[in-house]
This record gives sequence, structure tokens and C-alpha cells, in this order.
Amino acid sequence: MRRTKIADIIRTEPIGTELLVKGWVKAFRNNQFIALNDGSTPHNMQVVVDFEQLDPAQLERIRFGAAIGARGTLVESQGKGQKVEIKAAEIVIYGDCNPEEYPLQPKKQTLEYLREIAHLRFRTNTFGAVFRVRHTLAYAIHKFFNDRGFYYQHTPIITASDAEGAGEMFRVTTLPIENVPRTDAGEVDFDQDFFRRSTNLTVSGQLEAELAALALGEVYTFGPTFRAENSNTTRHLAEFWMIEPEVAFADLDDNMNLAEDMLQYVIRYALEHCADDLKILEDRLTEEEKSKPQDQRTMPLIEKLRFVTDNSFERLTYTEAIDILKNSNPNKKGKFQYPVEGWGTDLQSEHERYLVEKHFKKPVILTNYPAAIKAFYMRQDDPKEGVPGPTVSAMDILFPGIGEIVGGSQREERYERLVGRMQEMHIPEKELYWYLDTRKFGSCPHAGFGLGFERLVQFVTGMTNIRDVIAFPRFPGNAEF
Ligand code: 4AD
Ligand code: MG
Repeated sequence: MRRTKIADIIRTEPIGTELLVKGWVKAFRNNQFIALNDGSTPHNMQVVVDFEQLDPAQLERIRFGAAIGARGTLVESQGKGQKVEIKAAEIVIYGDCNPEEYPLQPKKQTLEYLREIAHLRFRTNTFGAVFRVRHTLAYAIHKFFNDRGFYYQHTPIITASDAEGAGEMFRVTTLPIENVPRTDAGEVDFDQDFFRRSTNLTVSGQLEAELAALALGEVYTFGPTFRAENSNTTRHLAEFWMIEPEVAFADLDDNMNLAEDMLQYVIRYALEHCADDLKILEDRLTEEEKSKPQDQRTMPLIEKLRFVTDNSFERLTYTEAIDILKNSNPNKKGKFQYPVEGWGTDLQSEHERYLVEKHFKKPVILTNYPAAIKAFYMRQDDPKEGVPGPTVSAMDILFPGIGEIVGGSQREERYERLVGRMQEMHIPEKELYWYLDTRKFGSCPHAGFGLGFERLVQFVTGMTNIRDVIAFPRFPGNAEF
């Protein structure tokens, strides 16, 4: 007999049919009622056993966490809490679970503790919901781009370049670290390394995506990226997944429109397809926030998501944002840890959060940042009155509770300008000859952005720590599992 998934039973309710369900025991009451979960839905299926018919030794093995199968007939439930249940004719135990040794307990356990047993936390209601939502968002992203004629590109994981020019890379090598070969000049002899050159894990697939966009028109990447930045925050991972669309013949406005459409589309998709999981996550968040003072609590999760799908994002320039921040109450009263003094400095997350959560009370797109604080590939703006220094056609999207969720720009398509910037920023031209070639041959205006996938999952699930939305987080001092 074939196994039926609980999600399908709930959807079709085939009363009177004989079924086989397989899953893990969530609870066993009165030697009679098993709450069974198989991961296909947050809902458990009630399996009713006739303990007088069952072998006592087998009854003993139906315990929290055990993997079992139950064959029986689907009937309308007599009890409250479920419409249907399975009247079991046969129970099979696949895997026992000793409650004395099992690190999971049928009670609330802290997220910090569950992080230490990340190999088992999938089995909790919260993480079941998080990982179902994570899947749905990934699927929605592919669907969004596919439906619009974008081609999914697989850009390399191992590269020889630093796409962001920020130097935060993990080295990839097969050289023996205990005895590194050296040249006569005393430098590391990469000639003897696997790729005959120095290589690292990619920080972004953007540069290669640009190459594809300048032939295929509209492309995107969705892959793992790596940053060796020593950031121990609730928003940073050393290994995270990034979605990077790249569009030929697009400018900054087109780029903002695409990003806003995409974010609203995928959040709407999750609202439609993960309603039950989102309800669980909303209740969890409300519970978590009970310990916070009233004025620090956020909107209920689903309301917050609807708010983003139903309102357009606020768009303003960096220069305008600095004015708002300079004149803001927290700045005048010295409440910011980093006072906003003048034009040109990077915004801290407290400033981003002020703009989004206090001033505009909705997602914000900041544009035209000072060139000095942005990457070499961003398009240089023409000087503008009232703007103190050179800017680039950059855009960052800021979300409530998250801060920066998207970073992107129109790209510098003019060869001379690009080379000029690279020289200023000490980006090696020789290593990026292939990137520069696109500006020599058939260059055109184009734009793109990067969406941090885990930050999106964080926003949609309401999880406070980014380490709780990726199965096995990598961060300074941790590469367990
Ligand atoms: O702003 P970033 O560094 O931009 C780029 O990498 C560009 N190449 C993107 C592009 O234009 N194609 O990163 C993009 C996004 C950020 O907005 C943030 O959401 C996420 O990636 N991100 C991180 N997420 C988790 N942990 C980290 N350490 C992250 N660093 C960036
Ligand atoms: Mg950024």
C-alpha cells in the first residue's frame, strides 16, 4: 500500500477510504490518540489506536519522536480539534525514540538551544514552518523571473576575482598550509596551487551575470555566496544565498520597479500558499514580543506582510535621507549612537531603521549614494545642484526590522569611466579584462541588484535571528554540521 501525505488527506478528506500514513509522533494521549506529523503540513493527523487490540510491547514504543506508520480508515472525528482522523488497524514502528536521551522535548525550548541541535530542530513546529516557507519563497522567486522571460544562470562558486572589491573572501586552495611553497622572492607560489592562481569563494555572481545579460537580455542568478566579514549580528551570515537579476537596456528606475515588483510578488505568493505556517509563525512572534515593552512590539506578522504588498515603497535619494536624519529628533537629542553629521558617511542600521520604522513607516528605496562608499561598477551620476559630492546610481531597499534587504545599481557601461573608477579604487584591471571587454564590445546601459535570500526569509517568517532561517548557519566561530 502506498503512503498518503497528511496534507493531501486534509485537502481531499476521502472519508471511508483505507489509508497508510507515515510520520513522527508528536504526542500520544491516553494510550489511544496519536498526533502524527509527516512534514507535508503543519497540521497533525490524529490516529486512534485500539489499545486492547495492540501488543503492549508495541504500545510502549509509540512515543514522542518515534517514526511510525499507521494503516486504517479515515473517519469523521468524534473529538474536537480535527475534522477527520484515522482509525488504525495496524501500526508499524520504523524507528524508536528514547525520551531519556532525545534532545528534543515535547515542550517549548529556546531558539538558542535549538540552534545547538540544528540537526533535530527541523522537527519542531517553528522550524517546520520556517523551512516550508523558505522553500515556497525560493519557488516563487524562480516563478517570478521565469514568467517574465528571465534566464536562470549558474555563476561560478570558485572565482579568482573579488566582485565587490571589499576583500572579504574565503581562500580556496589545495596548498599545504603547514608548509606553503614559496617563490624565490618569498611570496606564496600559487603556480603550485590547484588552479595555478589565487582563488576564493565568490562574494557575488553579479559580474558573470552581467556578461550573460549582455547577450540574453534578462537573467538572474540564485546561489550561495560567501563573505569572510567578522560580523556577529542577527543579519549577517558567512554563507548566504543571493538572488541577482541583471537586465540589459535598463536604468535605475527600471531596476527599482523590478525589485519592488519582485518583493511584493513573492511575499504575496507566500501569503497565499503558506497561510497556516505563517499563522504559526505569527503566534510565535507575538509570544516572543510579550516580553518587550509595548512601544517596541511590531505589527502582527501577517498584517506586516500585507502592508508591504499593498503599499508602494518610498523612494528618495541618499542626500534627501541625510537631511531628514540630520533634522530628526533622535539626532538632535543625541539618541543615535552614531550622530548624523554630514554628507558622505555610510548609514548605520539605526539610521536605516529610523527612516523605515519611524519616519516613513514603510519600505524605503534610497538612491544615488556617494560614490566613495559604493562599489566600483556602479554608474557615475552627473553632478547635481545641492549634492555636495560625486554620486553613483545605486539603490538600497530598506525593510522594517531588517534594514538593507536589497542592494543594486545601474552599471557603469562607459569604458573610460569604468576604468577610471577601477584605478581610483585599486581594482586590478588585468584580472577583470573579461568584464571590461563587455564595455569595449557592444556595451549598453544595464542594471541589476542582489536580494539577500535569508533576509527575505527572515522578514516573511518574522524570525529575529538570521541563524534561524538557514538550516546550518555559518558565522564566525561556527561551521557545525
Ligand atoms: O549589497 P550587496 O553586498 O550587493 C552585492 O553583492 C551586489 N553584487 C548585488 C548586485 O547588484 N547584483 O549584497 C546584496 C544583498 C544585501 O542587500 C543583503 O540583503 C545581502 O545581500 N547580504 C547578506 N545577507 C546575509 N549575510 C551577509 N553577510 C550579507 N551581505 C549581504
Ligand atoms: Mg549592500
